[in-house]
Amino acid sequence: MGVKKTLKKIWDKFTSSDRILVTGGLGYIGSHTVVELMEAGYDVYVVDNLSNSNIEVLNGIEAITGKRPVFENIDCTDYVAMDKFFTKYEGFKAVIHFAAYKAVGESVSKPLRYYRNNILSLINVLELMPIHQTEGIVFSSSCTVYGQPDKLPVDEKSPIKDALSPYGYTKQVCERIIMDTVHASEDMNAVILRYFNPIGAHPTASIGELPNGVPNNLVPFVCQTVSGVHKKLSVFGNDYNTPDGTCIRDYINVVDLAKAHVKAIERLFDGKMKKPEIYNIGTGKGASVMEVIKTFEAVSGKRVPYEVVGRREGDIERVWANPALANKKLNWQAETSFEETLLSAWRWQEVVNKRTK
Ligand code: UFG
Repeated sequence: MGVKKTLKKIWDKFTSSDRILVTGGLGYIGSHTVVELMEAGYDVYVVDNLSNSNIEVLNGIEAITGKRPVFENIDCTDYVAMDKFFTKYEGFKAVIHFAAYKAVGESVSKPLRYYRNNILSLINVLELMPIHQTEGIVFSSSCTVYGQPDKLPVDEKSPIKDALSPYGYTKQVCERIIMDTVHASEDMNAVILRYFNPIGAHPTASIGELPNGVPNNLVPFVCQTVSGVHKKLSVFGNDYNTPDGTCIRDYINVVDLAKAHVKAIERLFDGKMKKPEIYNIGTGKGASVMEVIKTFEAVSGKRVPYEVVGRREGDIERVWANPALANKKLNWQAETSFEETLLSAWRWQEVVNKRTK
């Protein structure tokens, strides 16, 4: 495929306050990305249906940046509403598409909910982009596409494994839909980011993760347990083939991850991209569940009550990234230490605790 000829042209036409549409921009990763984009001088427009986020996140964004992004409560599966939004604010340079459901367990019990929402949202965005001369898309994917990799650290060439959940399958299918769509178009290009395990919160503690109901993920559960919301944390298995027997993940600071999206936007319009690019966004280092608990205790000064229970179905034993490609081509790297990241998660939890008192 030839170089995406018009992207550079479009880039040259706009100033640094380019319009970026962020779908799901009030969610956990979305809101941190909105902040980083605004701080980099972009003009940010957010759609979110608030299904797993809260309108008050806008106050947090404003507290950090001094500005409120344009926001409308729109469900991306609603083509007509999305078309109206694109028309009203004509001239988006790129879309960062976060809007999706993400609970692995729920996707097993409600597969069609996941297929409809995650796939239809993306299709609507991809159909509307060329109609409204929007040429770049950054897509939130996940290291879940690698399953249990044969080789560690895992790089972008590692094979895609059979998905273990409908959620994981939506990420694989969405990646494919993007590749096929861009392949068939002269005017579109895409950066797909495969996130490892995002944790932590903005250092100002103005925004952070707001789990819906009982959190499935480790760090939010630890934070709530220490706050007394749960009696104890269940550690899902300590008989894995790892140094301490618990599973290993690559925990990436959410602000570092958000910054990768700003770099991805720059990459889309640097005139050098020939076809869609896929990047691992991780630290390159793994930490076990026990290491998370011990480090959290050290930085927060709080004890984490826990009990080892049986393995959780579908858990992968160990995975961590080789982020060399993103380091080199996106000029991005994880900067925040594991300690600082866990402390930011705890600081945010303290804010949430005060609000709910
Ligand atoms: N864990 C516990 N107790 C808990 C929660 C988690 O011991 O209460 C353990 C898990 O067994 C796992 C580790 O902590 O070993 C991390 O679990 P998370 O649920 O925080 O994260 P996962 O790696 O399972 O899943 C995350 C995202 C998915 C994404 C996946 C990619 O939630 O959306 O990373 O690997 F697909």
